[in-house]
Amino acid sequence: MTLRARAASPPPQSLYLHIPFCVQKCFYCAFNSYAGRDEVETTRYVTALTRHLEEVGRELRTPIETIYVGGGTPTYLSADQLDRLFEQIRKYVPLAPRVEWTVEANPGTLDAEKIRGFHRHGVTRVSMGVQTMDEKRLTTLGRRHLVEDVVSSVKMLREAKLDNFNLDLIYGLPKQSLSDWTHDIDRLLDLDPPHISLYALQIEEGTKFHQEHSRGDLETPDEDLVLEMYRVARDKLELGNLHLYEISNFSKPGHESLHNWNYWLNRSYVGLGAGAWGYQDGYRYRRETNPRKYSDSVLSGETTLVENDWIDPRSRQFETILAGLRTIRGVDLVILNSICEVPLGTAVRDLIGDWITRKHAVMVEDRLILTESGRWVLDGLLSELLEIWTEQEAPA
Ligand SMILES: C[S@@+](CC[C@H](N)C(=O)[O-])C[C@H]1O[C@@H](n2cnc3c(N)ncnc32)[C@H](O)[C@@H]1O
Ligand code: SF4
Repeated sequence: MTLRARAASPPPQSLYLHIPFCVQKCFYCAFNSYAGRDEVETTRYVTALTRHLEEVGRELRTPIETIYVGGGTPTYLSADQLDRLFEQIRKYVPLAPRVEWTVEANPGTLDAEKIRGFHRHGVTRVSMGVQTMDEKRLTTLGRRHLVEDVVSSVKMLREAKLDNFNLDLIYGLPKQSLSDWTHDIDRLLDLDPPHISLYALQIEEGTKFHQEHSRGDLETPDEDLVLEMYRVARDKLELGNLHLYEISNFSKPGHESLHNWNYWLNRSYVGLGAGAWGYQDGYRYRRETNPRKYSDSVLSGETTLVENDWIDPRSRQFETILAGLRTIRGVDLVILNSICEVPLGTAVRDLIGDWITRKHAVMVEDRLILTESGRWVLDGLLSELLEIWTEQEAPA
């Protein structure tokens, strides 16, 4: 490892595994996932991924503290396939004694056998995409489950004592009113989850929603209403003892996602699977997107990397601020200087001073933290930061 690489990042503490399969492609989703792939293909993919795990796991010298098996829909795999994968993790990856191990699941894709497998291997957390608690709207999103599947999956998790789980909701959905949204939030709170993630709908290229939007056929709420939806949800969640700790994430005390904290602190992680991103030794990399090609490459011993870029100290500094500002812990400027090896430029320090004067941010000891008003205008503040950064980058 080069000197600059060693300085750039400590060994990875997190592992991400991507499962790129789903029952059906939701109309809004641009994640790397493919619908209706058969067992021959998924089995080959699991074989490739387990081989990759073995190869990479052997190289890991420090214990992994968080694992995230995401997708796609990891629970699209059968109980046997998940078993093989998890067994390989246990066998080849050095795990910290209290590892946080999350698996993403879709409502209706969990069953008793899969949950038994979760327990056997040490999965500690489940993250489930609910998106809306409105039956009709689920159909307009291209979801394949019913509201009652959400309720029964939560019940199943609780009965199995897997009660550390997250539920995702999306707001700003087509034709969604404020009262539709408060209904979603209230129904979700009835389930008393320890963690909730709220995402504003993004119209992503390559999706059915994007096509409809481009034709003017998708009626989505305006920006002010979307902001109001967020505010209302935040207040309701707070009353339900779910506290904001990152702009989209709310948890009961003790249920924050440690894996996500690793990303927000801009720490390194290993990424395996089709289209997975990773960040190690100061390089951010991406793996082959196509699951068949990914499997071919692993099984024939070729590289799966399609991008591998050195993140220079200034970019690392910028990314760390960007991610940290989204959290209630903010950005520790002293730690930032030490991990990024470059001092903050004068223009950036002036901008931070300006945010503090405008009451958008405060300093608590060494940490720069956005205030509530700062969080409301987060996008604007990030654009101001980006502008200064770009100016500093430009040659004199
Ligand atoms: C990686 S996805 C997978 C979750 C899981 N497969 C499911 O759908 O239940 C994680 C979450 O991203 C969110 N998401 C995906 N596409 C989105 C979009 N276009 N806009 C906002 N949120 C989105 C959804 O809430 C989803 O649950
Ligand atoms: S939202 Fe989840 S289930 Fe739907 S296509 Fe995306 S990854 Fe698959």
